[in-house]
Amino acid sequence: MLQLNPMNIVIAKGLTKNYGSLKAVDNIYFEISKGECFGFLGPNGAGKTTVMRIIYCFMPPTSGEVKVFDTDVNQDPSHIKARIGVMPQDDNLDPDLTVFENLIVYARYFDIKKKDSEPLARELLEFVGIAEKTHVKIGDLSGGMKRRLVLARSLINNPELLILDEPTTGLDPHSRHTVWEKLHYLKSINTTLILTTHYMEEAEKLCDRVAIMDSGNILTIDSPSSLMNIHGGNLEDVYLKLTGKALRE
Ligand SMILES: Nc1ncnc2c1ncn2[C@@H]1O[C@H](COP(=O)(O)OP(=O)(O)O)[C@@H](O)[C@H]1O
Ligand SMILES: [Mg+2]
Repeated sequence: MLQLNPMNIVIAKGLTKNYGSLKAVDNIYFEISKGECFGFLGPNGAGKTTVMRIIYCFMPPTSGEVKVFDTDVNQDPSHIKARIGVMPQDDNLDPDLTVFENLIVYARYFDIKKKDSEPLARELLEFVGIAEKTHVKIGDLSGGMKRRLVLARSLINNPELLILDEPTTGLDPHSRHTVWEKLHYLKSINTTLILTTHYMEEAEKLCDRVAIMDSGNILTIDSPSSLMNIHGGNLEDVYLKLTGKALRE
């Protein structure tokens, strides 16, 4: 059914993840192509984070095959990790370090030399609009600033593929707007984006295709416009119709 198309950056075939007796992801198939913005939408517990974590090689699938850049996630995770950026669902910044130091330490994982990482860190803090917080400790940042810092950190290795798990959940409107604006920009320069979100309006604007998930299954994969044509209403109406569940907010 699935062909190895060189334009595909991620291919998942029969992907399954069990936690004990719980099937968190149940035999799903999808492909994501280069330059695409692909969204995983679904209620809490649908399995979105689990899928993302498998793609960014945080944990292995129970069964099935997942390839990123034509490399199996079980075979060579470090090759994959070097080329991707990750914004995990929960911020995992080092509270003992400043904003700037968090970026510099992270850059070391990618063997980026200090003489390169320092100007890069400044540029990225400028990019996400928190340059004035450069030498502030993490504990003194607002939630929105922390999220923007994690976005900056995910870009330190100039990734071809960016994986964003609920990048704007719980943010103030200003930070939320900034993050979506940056994602539109990254898409315009051909970065492949994979994201989860509860903001249907934003997904409708940014995503080329979305997978609507529930209980570990993909209910449908299509472009927002075609889903809206088929089911009527906006993307939120489609989501409600397919999952039968209200958005978290
Ligand atoms: N580390 C874990 N151990 C056990 N169960 C987990 C773990 N992570 C997630 N789950 C369960 O797996 C299901 C899918 O979770 P998750 O992938 O986080 O969904 P989503 O991101 O869509 O909210 C949920 O029922 C969740 O409680
Ligand atoms: Mg999640």
